[in-house]
Amino acid sequence: MRSLDEFATAKLGELEHGSLRRALVDTTRVTGIWTLRNGRRLLSFCCNDYLNLTHHPAVKEAAIEALRIYGVGAGASRFVTGNHPLFAALEARLARLKETEAATIFGSGYLANLGIIPALVGADDVVLIDELAHACLWAGARLSRAAVVPYRHADVGHVEALLAELRRRHRRALIATDGVFSMDGDIAPLHALAALAQHHDAWLMSDDAHGLGVVGGGRGSNFVQAAKAEVPLQMGTLSKALGAYGGYICASAAVVDLIRNRARSLIYSTALPPAIVAAASAAIDVIEREPEYAALPVKKAKAFARSAGLPEPASPIVPVVLGEAEAALAASRLLEEQGFLVTAIRPPTVPAQTARLRLTFTAQHPDDEIERLAALVRSRVLSQSAVSATPAQ
Ligand SMILES: Cc1ncc(COP(=O)(O)O)c(C=O)c1O
Repeated sequence: MRSLDEFATAKLGELEHGSLRRALVDTTRVTGIWTLRNGRRLLSFCCNDYLNLTHHPAVKEAAIEALRIYGVGAGASRFVTGNHPLFAALEARLARLKETEAATIFGSGYLANLGIIPALVGADDVVLIDELAHACLWAGARLSRAAVVPYRHADVGHVEALLAELRRRHRRALIATDGVFSMDGDIAPLHALAALAQHHDAWLMSDDAHGLGVVGGGRGSNFVQAAKAEVPLQMGTLSKALGAYGGYICASAAVVDLIRNRARSLIYSTALPPAIVAAASAAIDVIEREPEYAALPVKKAKAFARSAGLPEPASPIVPVVLGEAEAALAASRLLEEQGFLVTAIRPPTVPAQTARLRLTFTAQHPDDEIERLAALVRSRVLSQSAVSATPAQ
């Protein structure tokens, strides 16, 4: 239809003009770290497969065996076709790992946040959300029809002031934050947020998509300090360090039961394929059995940051903020010429003027390649940049 195509073409033109148009580039991941693109082997430093479990023999074998026995798809929602024992087993393992009474899994992390938040808060309520929280926390918060009030990134004083001002005007209050921030790699001040939440009767929810498996001994960002932070709503994904796919919430038995009864993205969506669920369980085996292996991504990120002259990161994610989208694209091209795949991250994924390289480190990245990348970033990327790298707090 002409008006529709004209609309799409005009919108794409605007994106192109701001260097913000995205394109899919044919790329094959051949191992946990190596990819093939345009006939070249590139070492990927932009994947969330932190423990390279997507290609781990035991994880693949678990998926293959489940696929052989149970077939490819789940067939329907678990409420229709029945709860497959593999699902219950994975949920029990997640709850144990996160020290909660119960857990439930969703089709993806994005779907989890779309389902969880509207299941808990609505029109008379308020969601306080970190301004840098992931897009799907924002989406879930908006979908809930609660008042959505952003607070300055990781600013506990701001949360306190907002709660003092707003809490009594709303029936329920939810504080929503990433555990490990996806584009900056810093860890949320969960202890301080938990204390505020307790004081003001607000419910704290952390999205630990990038924490599970790699920080806090593999158990996530609320386990980083000696005493764990009390986070009653621990959401995360199976699709990053676990190398599989899907999302989860770990919480009390009553809350999980309520979410199962109310989360539309769980009830009205086909369950995950059993093979993926089996793979996620096998991935948790690896994390629990090999804590030193699970610690490697953060160690490697720290080694890189030291060599590149960047602040010490708290997670496997190291941001190199360059400012304009074009600067990030140019840096990404330069690294690709040198054999590294590091995709430029541009608005609206990150705020305007903070386009960046987001480097992610995995257990199997060779140390000599990390050193080579650090030298390039120091001498060819940071030296050209007017904007300094953001500190990873
Ligand atoms: C912080 C955060 N939450 C949620 C998600 C969504 O998870 P999934 O990829 O499983 O949908 C992502 C993925 O990019 C993320 O970074």
